[in-house]
Amino acid sequence: IQTTILQTLSAGSGEIKDTRTIAVDGRALSTPEDQAAVRGVLDSLSSKEMITYKQITTTSFTLTEEGSQIVESGSHEFRVWSALPAKGQGEPVTVPELQKLVGKDVTSIGQGRAFKNKWIAKDGAGFVRAVEAPVDETAVQLKEIQEKGDHPAGESVTKELQKRKLIQPKKHIHYSVAKGPEFSTEVKQLETDLTVEMLQSGAWKDSSFKQYNFAATGQPTDGGALHPLLKVREEFRNIFFDMGFTEMPTNRFVESAFWNFDAMFVPQQHPAREMQDTFYVKDPVKALQPDAEYYERVRKTHEEGGYGSIGYRAPFSREESEKLLLRTHTTAISTDMLYKLANQPGGFKPAKMYSIDRVFRNETADATHLAEFHQVEGVVADYNITLGNLIAFMQEFFSKTGNHKLRFKPAYNPYTEPSMEVFSWHEGLGKWIEIANSGIFRPEMLEPMGLPKGVRVLGWGMSLERPTMIKYKISDIRTLVGHKTDLDQVKKRPAVRLEKGDE
Ligand code: PHE
Repeated sequence: IQTTILQTLSAGSGEIKDTRTIAVDGRALSTPEDQAAVRGVLDSLSSKEMITYKQITTTSFTLTEEGSQIVESGSHEFRVWSALPAKGQGEPVTVPELQKLVGKDVTSIGQGRAFKNKWIAKDGAGFVRAVEAPVDETAVQLKEIQEKGDHPAGESVTKELQKRKLIQPKKHIHYSVAKGPEFSTEVKQLETDLTVEMLQSGAWKDSSFKQYNFAATGQPTDGGALHPLLKVREEFRNIFFDMGFTEMPTNRFVESAFWNFDAMFVPQQHPAREMQDTFYVKDPVKALQPDAEYYERVRKTHEEGGYGSIGYRAPFSREESEKLLLRTHTTAISTDMLYKLANQPGGFKPAKMYSIDRVFRNETADATHLAEFHQVEGVVADYNITLGNLIAFMQEFFSKTGNHKLRFKPAYNPYTEPSMEVFSWHEGLGKWIEIANSGIFRPEMLEPMGLPKGVRVLGWGMSLERPTMIKYKISDIRTLVGHKTDLDQVKKRPAVRLEKGDE
């Protein structure tokens, strides 16, 4: 096509008026597909300024079924006229008789038109012919269009026929082409980049450069998607913000045993502190020391008791306290924040704080456990709050996550008393599932920090993975986190609206 176009332009008048007339391999490029191919070539040549072209849109008409019928048997009015006798040559035909002869539709349209054309006349109760041989103009026009695709009278005829649904238009696109400023029968290879070599050799002077195409849309990008855990996290985060919580800074994966355990009144002999449960860090070997007086109060509470407690009455070792580990719960952060709350300038003020971040436990990976997961955690510190407040609070918080039916079961944590496990009725699964661990922090934890005596702190924690797995019906945690994650699934999973109870 390219060669033919260039040669036609160069040989003849320098113009192609209608690209449908040029032939390649003896065949005219008459179909819409041919013209689409021509367009591609024209775009390429015009980007090199070798040609200029214009698009020309024409319309042709084809007959509808009714239109073809008219060409064959005449218009409705003509058929009515044909069915009638000449005046005095037979019985005038009444409308019901006419309907029987030519059909209801033809009668209803044709009778009126034939009458208006003065082809027929009333004669008593019926109709007779009023002219000898009427010219059936509609049929003549349609025949012309059937043969030529258009009518010489143009719109004045086609508009009406189109309105009567006897013809339908069809658009055709072709092009007219002329030589451009860079016309040549040879297509030059255009340079797309100005290179160092071209500058050094001076070749740039004789090179032709490809024009920028500022209208190009560019490569479609394969957009990123939020991981399901992040979608659920966002939802929890919004619930916390709605309830007036502030976010705690959890950017501290490595924690000292002091903050992770000791400050929380977890005995140094507790099994959770053993290597098979907790990942310890070798280097650096020791954590920075906490405030000396606070450390001393914590040690004393463990060894001897205080604040109404008899303590653990077991040796408390500084070495144990200074060990570094990957935090086993974000409650280590909450503890540090509570200590800061007690010791801030101006003293303690009630607070609601939350965090959602990663924690680490030395577990063997299986379908529901990994050695790391995300903890959703909240603490509420205020004067004179009770277990009743904790229960009411859990009910409000979890109803916002779509869990409306809760049950509470007494439990044990070294740092809370009382402690409660929270269960929620899951409609989809048809059973009670454990959703959180909660409690009221012990005085042995809070009072050494310097929190005023009347202050109680409620806390609860849960995993982010569990509600995410339920939400997206994921049965193996290893397909949610880690190298077996299906990125396609990650992209397809919908956003989360927990408060609508869509789980
Ligand atoms: N730290 C607890 C856990 O890991 C959660 C919790 C936080 C419990 C605060 C009570 C109070 O399960």
